[in-house]
Amino acid sequence: LISQPFDMIVFGGRGDLARRKLIPALYHLAREQRLPDDGRIICVSRGAMANEDFVKMMHDDCITHSGDGTKDGQFDEQSWASFATRLTYLGLDATDIKSYESLATLLKGREEVVRAFYLATAPDIFGPIAANLKALNLVTPASRLVLEKPLGKDLASAHEINAAVAKAFTEPQTYRIDHYLGKETVQNLMVLRFANALFEPLWNRTYIDHVQISVAETVGVGGRWKYYNESGALRDMVQNHLLQLICLTAMEPPSTLDADMIRDEKLKVLRALQPIHAADVAHATVRGQYKAGNITGKTVSGYLEETDSEAHSNTETFVAIKVAIENWRWAGVPFYIRTGKRLPSRSSEIVVQFKTPPHSPYPESAGTIHPNKLVMRLQPDEGIRLIMLNKGRGPGELKLRQTALDLSFAETFGGRSPDAYERLLLDVIRGRPALFMRLDELEAAWRWIDGIQQGWSDTALAPKPYAAGSWGPSAAIALIERDGRTWHEDDI
Ligand code: BG6
Repeated sequence: LISQPFDMIVFGGRGDLARRKLIPALYHLAREQRLPDDGRIICVSRGAMANEDFVKMMHDDCITHSGDGTKDGQFDEQSWASFATRLTYLGLDATDIKSYESLATLLKGREEVVRAFYLATAPDIFGPIAANLKALNLVTPASRLVLEKPLGKDLASAHEINAAVAKAFTEPQTYRIDHYLGKETVQNLMVLRFANALFEPLWNRTYIDHVQISVAETVGVGGRWKYYNESGALRDMVQNHLLQLICLTAMEPPSTLDADMIRDEKLKVLRALQPIHAADVAHATVRGQYKAGNITGKTVSGYLEETDSEAHSNTETFVAIKVAIENWRWAGVPFYIRTGKRLPSRSSEIVVQFKTPPHSPYPESAGTIHPNKLVMRLQPDEGIRLIMLNKGRGPGELKLRQTALDLSFAETFGGRSPDAYERLLLDVIRGRPALFMRLDELEAAWRWIDGIQQGWSDTALAPKPYAAGSWGPSAAIALIERDGRTWHEDDI
């Protein structure tokens, strides 16, 4: 239980994110008694709605979205009834300062209380909202500003948005969300590396052959075509989530868990990424766009046939990149990353592939010396697998067998796996910024992404088609096979 009273004000309070993630996360925190009694949640959005109707809508959403959609044992009416008393809905036009009156009234007299403004709106109104809050004197020393992605579409626009909010909130007051950092398995990456003696000595170019990061989704762009078409997989997933995964895998050990120490180390990785420009995009990157296909026996439409789609688009729904990190630890160790929509399964994993032993005493007939792999499974079936060779059983001729040491978090820890937003919202209230992106990190990430985006446009590199339900265009397979390597498939 945290003790500070708080007011959390969610702009975009009736939007998709609030309904699917934020309110269910806050409900679970309250249900598990992690919130102080004096903690109010004020949802604001354009348009009037009776508080009662709002609470009913959130009640139903919380049932639907409690823990990956499985509601068994994760929702109960009694804890909801108590949680519901925290909720207030206010109709407010965020760009019209005159409409902030009832919000200001509600906050009056609670200037000492932690005040978290959560902006789950389009980023073009982040600046205007911050300015309105400041003009109305609603930004107190105990205030925090939480910014959702997309934080711009390139370095210049990100800079503009951040400069605008910085007129009202200081950098330490600004919490930039990347929800991947709230995932249990992502946080576990640091524990695995820095709380065990076993891996870190091997975690470098001498022992590691390469690293693969895959974030695969079965979903298409659903009802988000217009947003997504402006963005594409590179900006939507790589700029934030995949780069953060690269950082946590590649960074040097921080000397403490101090937020800035961790972020300093991540920043160094971002700054060491080898730029990819026009001359490199054709061999270092692959763009893809899904066509109609089949996913687990269901026919799904192509990207250009989705609701609200246009007939032509050059936006990628899949991207694969060969990333080089130019520093002492990682020189010569490629990081192959890929992410896409409408792939055959929803799975995210980081695979660290070690080098094969320098010499084998075993005859060819014993089988291939497969390299060791450490597979960190982020979702679903969170866990760790260490793939290694063992002797196949029996007195006959020696056979080497690939086997796995398997750790399932669900089996080991039991209980409910909390959603990423639970940890992040709690950290906002507690004032712990370690899992949020600092401005210099965000800008370094955009700088690298801008290079690729520019390279694509300079060379008019169009996305290659791939059938929904496949692992992206064949060029993505060629990207890694060209180097004598293959994408990891768990077939052991
Ligand atoms: C979001 C992207 O940031 O992450 C979405 O905008 C994507 O396009 C989502 O589907 C994936 O998140 P998760 O937690 O389901 O892996």
